[in-house]
Amino acid sequence: MIVCSCSRISDFDIELALLDLLNQPEAPIPTPGAVYRYLEKRMNCCGCAPVAVEVIYAKLEDLERRGLICPYRSLSTRERLKKLSLMKGRGDASRVLVTADDETA
Ligand code: FES
Repeated sequence: MIVCSCSRISDFDIELALLDLLNQPEAPIPTPGAVYRYLEKRMNCCGCAPVAVEVIYAKLEDLERRGLICPYRSLSTRERLKKLSLMKGRGDASRVLVTADDETA
């Protein structure tokens, strides 16, 4: 499935990026920006951000269920994502994550 038509990123590309990113010693929060940077792509129109967030969450759970990423690291990542959302005080996770990417870029 194509997630980002501007940068031609599929859900499989995101899965592979998450596998590499989350198995790094200092794994970053896998925001769409972090994943896109890892893939050496850029967000252009940002229309894919909500879908990218949903795919990242789904892939995190799937990779954890398949034993491909450490469940503790996955849990830690999800908690950090949740904290980031709460810190921003918004319910729209995609907006929060895109904003967080802007701040860390
Ligand atoms: S659809 Fe992903 S940046 Fe435009």
